Amino acid sequence: MIGETLIYWYERNKRDLPWRNIKNPYYIWVSEIILQQTRVIQGIEYYRNFVEKFPDIFSLAQADIDEVLKTWQGLGYYSRARHMHAAAKHIVEKCSGNFPNTYSDLLKIKGIGDYTAAAVASFAFGEAVPAIDGNVNRVITRLYDIREPVDTLKGKQQVRHWAEKTMVTSSPGTYNQAVMEFGALQCVPRNVHCGECILRTSCRAYTAGVVDLLPLKSKTVQIKTRYLHYLIVRNNGDVFLQRRGEGDIWNGLYEFPLIETEISGGLEELITTRQWQQWFGKQIPHISHISGEITHQLTHRTLKIRFYEIENCRPAFSEQQIRVKKEHLRRYAVPKVIDNYLKKRMVSGSLWCEG
Ligand code: ADE
Repeated sequence: MIGETLIYWYERNKRDLPWRNIKNPYYIWVSEIILQQTRVIQGIEYYRNFVEKFPDIFSLAQADIDEVLKTWQGLGYYSRARHMHAAAKHIVEKCSGNFPNTYSDLLKIKGIGDYTAAAVASFAFGEAVPAIDGNVNRVITRLYDIREPVDTLKGKQQVRHWAEKTMVTSSPGTYNQAVMEFGALQCVPRNVHCGECILRTSCRAYTAGVVDLLPLKSKTVQIKTRYLHYLIVRNNGDVFLQRRGEGDIWNGLYEFPLIETEISGGLEELITTRQWQQWFGKQIPHISHISGEITHQLTHRTLKIRFYEIENCRPAFSEQQIRVKKEHLRRYAVPKVIDNYLKKRMVSGSLWCEG
């Protein structure tokens, strides 16, 4: 009954979104991966761009990884884009381009986890498996007053159990969409509007007065702070870029030559580092602009970033630092925080108008 009520609510309240009412598993997959990265409003634009550039699994499989990363620029978690590219290649080469069509086969693809497999299997192929994301966790823990933390095995099992029990097996795709949408619009994390909720009288957390306490989590992740200093070194109308390696944030993206420090600080901190001395020796180059400390929040990291604009200089860079004409800079996929900085400095004019 609760499942049918959710669908009833969904049919009257759902947003009109471009990945709704389609059955193509490729489009559904793309939309779900994008929506794991960003909110729906921003996701719509990324989704449209992505499927316009790569309209099917074959075009994604054939694409250059740099082009895929460029399309992903700004979404963060670039390993997701890499996995998608690898998955597309795998599906084209090993499955003749036919998207796996069951939950268990989807799970075998690298980069497709439990949630995505369930979403694609239910939306595209009508398989009755619950797709459990943050919204669904919240709705189910509240409806059934589940007090086990949702990041424990026991908590996950309980949520799954009740999500399956609530499932409308004749319409699994619509049911999954309905719970998600209900979590996104009605059963929201804070300032909940239970007064106007259609499921209020069936909601055990509402009856117990604990709606705003659920879902529970067992651990709060330690947020570490990192201090990044980017050197925008100009030389005859060129700048230098380097590519980020594996095993860290922003894998494969480009950035300006970077010095990372353990503690906060400006130039005085920077020039004491070994990297600075390797690149610049004892000379202090002409620094035309130093930004303020920009805070950039990632899931498990706080980044504190400064940019230093350095003029007419040829530091002792290695072949890792590549020379790029400033008008070609926009061809390179860079982290959002760098893109934002460049845009801001272009608007204010000073960065790219000089020499
Ligand atoms: N969040 C994750 N998947 C979604 C979907 N298919 N529609 C709306 N929001 C979502």
